[in-house]
Amino acid sequence: MKVVVVGTGFVGLPHAAVLSEYGHEVYANDIDEARIAAYQTGDRDEIERYVNEPGLAAIIEETMDRYLFFTTDLSQVIEGTDLIFLCLPTPPKRDGSTDLSMYMNAAHGLADLLAQRKQKNRVVLVNKSTVPIGTARLLQQIMTEHGVENFGVASNPEFLAQGNAVDGSRRPDRVVIGADTQADFEILRRVYSQFVNHVRIRYLETTPETAEAIKYMANTLLLTYISFWNGVGARLGETNANIRMEDLKIGVTSDDRISTWGSYVSNGAGGSCFGKDIQSLIYQLNRAGRSTDLLQAVYNINEYQKTYLVDRAVYEAGFNFNHKKVALMGLAFKKRTNDMRDSAALKVVESLLARGVTEIRAYDPLAMHDAQNYWFSPDKNHLFERITYHDTARAALQGSDAVYISTDWEEFRGLATTIANTVQPPYLIMDGRRMLPDYRDLVSRGYEYLPVGGTLLKPPPAGEAASHNGQQSTIAKQATN
Ligand code: UDX
Repeated sequence: MKVVVVGTGFVGLPHAAVLSEYGHEVYANDIDEARIAAYQTGDRDEIERYVNEPGLAAIIEETMDRYLFFTTDLSQVIEGTDLIFLCLPTPPKRDGSTDLSMYMNAAHGLADLLAQRKQKNRVVLVNKSTVPIGTARLLQQIMTEHGVENFGVASNPEFLAQGNAVDGSRRPDRVVIGADTQADFEILRRVYSQFVNHVRIRYLETTPETAEAIKYMANTLLLTYISFWNGVGARLGETNANIRMEDLKIGVTSDDRISTWGSYVSNGAGGSCFGKDIQSLIYQLNRAGRSTDLLQAVYNINEYQKTYLVDRAVYEAGFNFNHKKVALMGLAFKKRTNDMRDSAALKVVESLLARGVTEIRAYDPLAMHDAQNYWFSPDKNHLFERITYHDTARAALQGSDAVYISTDWEEFRGLATTIANTVQPPYLIMDGRRMLPDYRDLVSRGYEYLPVGGTLLKPPPAGEAASHNGQQSTIAKQATN
């Protein structure tokens, strides 16, 4: 089939690439000329500068100029197209609603072009990025107003997680198609023939509005589940030293009905989807006059969680951040990505600066470049000049008074040794990801350890003179036993 994919970001590019693998003739379009030029080089580094997904560059190398073509000019490729996938950014506005300006621009541009088609074959416009409920209907109106003939609209939300976009596109757990007519369902069945009647993949055909709602429900439910662990599990673990978080997790999730995914307590969930989607759903339900208490609570719990450990450092460990240097381990919102959108690290930095730290010594295996761009931009707070950037964890730790672990990078599991070799107690370790399996050893050597979902562990009495607030610790005994 002849397919156009409008928007070649994290969703559009893997989608276009995987469709081309199945032998469709795919035209990937973007208004960003530099981006398209980078893809056209076929060079892995160039491609990954824009979308860094395992396996993606290899597919592009394989199919480019045979099945996959890149273009900035839609007018050249629109004739005879069967499907147009819209994979455009839909960022949040300040009030939580969705900014559809980029989407609308593209929709109007497409409508103009489609109205002038010579071939009048049926073309289906498919919303793939997350858009508010009712957007497919709106798209239909726009096309009709521009006089487009023989077209259909559909909603086909993506459920891709970052770092897994290629595998997720090749083997999704479900394909959800919302459309109005059998003709449109049929065209989508043809483009997704590898998924129809698949033994393991659910292929669901429904209304456009249901498909749009499924995406919002799925993402907010996942965030609700994470927030249950962060808002209840972590709270239990930090109020009673005898509750072991890892055992609690196994015990609870051994029930087939309860998922292990989402049960990892953390300093809050970030990324480009969860925060944006829950705010948008709150906005949509509010506008319809419906209660949003649960969603509002989930949103608040997740945002609060991002800086909660810094607050605990002050109130529980008695740590005074004023004039201190803090090493920050991890900037990305999760491991294996350089994406910092809604990352806990952003909030941690703001909280630390507000508490008077003189330097934040940052390290991330992948996100350093993006971080510098983000914090260097001219309109940003001048306090961000207090952030320094380091090539290794060890370099970032040098001369620091405390460390905050924000991202779950695997390499941080070995951080205990690096800490012991680089900085001396008194020293506070704030672990937002429970990354240090050998924290007991550190505590016995005089370091203070404050993990998310766990009580503050202080050095045993012998090291007490070195501790920050000098209080007698009973927990220290448990830590070293
Ligand atoms: C998510 C959804 O998983 C995906 O289905 C949707 O389409 C887009 O949003 P992604 O943003 O890539 O994907 O990240 P995900 O792996 O789900 O993690 C989101 C955040 O939750 C991260 O900050 C992660 O570290 C955190 N998380 C995840 C936890 O804190 N605990 C967990 O148990 C799991």
